[in-house]
Amino acid sequence: MTAYKLLLLPGDGIGREVMAQVTTVIGALAETGLASFETETDLVGGSSIDAHGVPLTDAALARADAADAILLGAVGGPKWSGVAYDIRPEAGLLRLRKDLGLFANLRPAICYPALADASALKRELVEGLDIMIVRELTGGVYFGEPKEITTLPDGTKRAVDTQVYTTGEIERIAHVAFDLARKRSGRVASAEKHNVMKSGVLWKEVVTKVHAEHYSDVELEHVLADNCAMQLVRRPKQFDVLVTDNLFGDVLSDVAAMLTGSLGMLPSASLGAVDSKGSRKALYEPVHGSAPDIAGQDLANPLAMIGSLAMALRYSFGLGEAADLLDGAITDALAAGARTKDIAGEGATPLGTAGMGEAVVAAL
Ligand code: NAI
Ligand code: MG
Repeated sequence: MTAYKLLLLPGDGIGREVMAQVTTVIGALAETGLASFETETDLVGGSSIDAHGVPLTDAALARADAADAILLGAVGGPKWSGVAYDIRPEAGLLRLRKDLGLFANLRPAICYPALADASALKRELVEGLDIMIVRELTGGVYFGEPKEITTLPDGTKRAVDTQVYTTGEIERIAHVAFDLARKRSGRVASAEKHNVMKSGVLWKEVVTKVHAEHYSDVELEHVLADNCAMQLVRRPKQFDVLVTDNLFGDVLSDVAAMLTGSLGMLPSASLGAVDSKGSRKALYEPVHGSAPDIAGQDLANPLAMIGSLAMALRYSFGLGEAADLLDGAITDALAAGARTKDIAGEGATPLGTAGMGEAVVAAL
């Protein structure tokens, strides 16, 4: 069996604790014979600042570039709040995303039956929920130029951010969404605001064209982004794959996240373009941060990190069977009552980080 090269970047705070559980799970997966990895570990974020003075070294970036996939824990923490803006811990993660061209951010929002009561919504609205939000990550208003604050002749100020999208940027994210839909329920909703934004007009036009030319077997619906926010809360199960730009995706993915319960449950993937050999750069990480308030106390929920490994199996290595097995182990561990403190509810005796890792391995 091919041994894929995985670079582990645990980072800071609970990133290190949840990554330790992934290492255990990787060992257990190897025993099933379904997936085997060569792992390397390096530093990112504050831990890299402490060792090297920068949040990501050129050597670590080169290792990331050479790996088949990267798993990242989390970066940051109060210890580094005083460092210069350009070398703050988050800059290490931003450099990875930018230099590896990771333009497609996949954020699943899955509501496990065992946790449906932890959702912000009623059980019947979210039970069985399984949405995949595909957010464009390297373009749009967060990066467009000009981006500035200027002083006007009367002494007041004027701030400008610029939303820019090109045909190529919209095409490639549309392909990611339609390809995913083919492996899921075959439905895509595309969210923009063509009624008030030129970039929305182009977004809708390009998504429509990509659909007509390549994906007539997939069902496409256009939805205005503000209405989409309403629908996510009113009737979330109507969505399967939801594709949108960087800004709307930031907001809509956070709304969807809260339908599922805890931040400790949410994995993500960031994918680059497919190269001539048919492979693509990819970084997998939990949505949560380094959680300094609970770091070092064996309290962190490792399921977002373990779920990120399952996404790597599925989206980088085409190991659907191993991914299903691991996702199934998470579902089974939860169904058997395994809970960390963040999802335990009143009165229950929760497991620690390592205990939850063991529960997943046992279910596996
Ligand atoms: P956070 O996600 O670290 O924590 C928010 C809250 O959720 C905290 O109360 C925390 O205890 C809880 N939480 C988070 N993950 C959890 C888990 N796996 N299990 C149980 N509870 C969990 O966000 P916060 O507090 O805003 O940021 C803390 C640090 O992390 C900052 O330095 C921030 O810049 C950084 N950060 C890094 C990210 C990354 O590496 N991708 C993303 C978000 C924040
Ligand atoms: Mg956000």
